[in-house]
Amino acid sequence: MEEQSIQMNLCSTRKEKPDSDQLEFGKIFTDHMFIMDYSDEKGWHDARITPYEPLRLDPSAMIFHYGQSVFEGLKAYLTSEGKVQLFRPEKNMQRLNRSNNRLCIPPIDEEFALQAIKQLVAVEKDWIPRAEGTSLYIRPFIISTEPYLGVAPSSHYQFIVILSPVGAYYKEGINPVKIAVENQYVRAVLGGTGEAKTGGNYASSLKAQEMVADQGFAQVLWLDGVEKKYIEEVGSMNVFFKINGEVVTPALNGSILEGVTRNSVIKLLKHWNVPIVERKISMEELAKANKDGTLEEAFGAGTAAVISPIGQLTWNDEDFVINHGKTGKIAKRLYDTLTGIQYGKESDPFDWIV
Ligand code: COI
Repeated sequence: MEEQSIQMNLCSTRKEKPDSDQLEFGKIFTDHMFIMDYSDEKGWHDARITPYEPLRLDPSAMIFHYGQSVFEGLKAYLTSEGKVQLFRPEKNMQRLNRSNNRLCIPPIDEEFALQAIKQLVAVEKDWIPRAEGTSLYIRPFIISTEPYLGVAPSSHYQFIVILSPVGAYYKEGINPVKIAVENQYVRAVLGGTGEAKTGGNYASSLKAQEMVADQGFAQVLWLDGVEKKYIEEVGSMNVFFKINGEVVTPALNGSILEGVTRNSVIKLLKHWNVPIVERKISMEELAKANKDGTLEEAFGAGTAAVISPIGQLTWNDEDFVINHGKTGKIAKRLYDTLTGIQYGKESDPFDWIV
């Protein structure tokens, strides 16, 4: 890929920044965005940082019809010394290209994309919120823009990065949430797009969540799409259980998203000599552990919420109350360590910070 430079077209006036104590997730956007175009003739070209504004797209643009798109999510954190930190951003760029491959989208130059993100974050540094637990969420995404109604890979795309100052993803924060095990709908199937970060996976997850939301459940626990027997993910996060002293997470199988936080949790647990295994885990096994009193903890792991403990899991009519509905020790230690590294309060033994 050719060396590219990034054209800068900055706003003359800036929007007012929000109060960082009041931030929700993903509702406010900064002054600028990064855009780059792709055509089959020119490849990726015209990289630019421009004012954040609505896109002008043809109504026949393929993204609106067949959903050929991918996205990523990562965060920029401000340390108490005013340094800006990214957490393992190269993992997001690698995954973006794996998702591209699955969705027949041409690959991006990972180093250049990361360079673009760094440059955009530098332009918007003043938007990084300071309040505890807040950060600047970075949303890179690629959409298919060719005006064409045939079902085929698009010949034109846009790679865009937008930024959003955010607070906690779940209003519960690190407090445990109630989860319903989903027996009817599935998130992904083997051979499908489950391990790609693509909008369709999230669109198809909404129905199940909507159906349990009014019973007080924050999210659903997803089972495999073939036998509806094995656990895959929780909500939009990877899931971990501590059973009889050992932490277990579903092994990557093609339908589970390879989370950056998932990978970091596994590395930290190994570093602490906490037994951790990646394998299949069935609902029956979990129900048995609950009955035996060996189901000690359960939690979700993802970039947006970091660690989200599960205080109660409801399967059919059975309620599993986990760790008396309280945040477990491993979940708390992981949350404190990951956020400690991200905000520069803890040493970074794996060189994760950029
Ligand atoms: C995450 O846990 O970071 C997610 O994938 C949620 C995101 C889609 C908002």
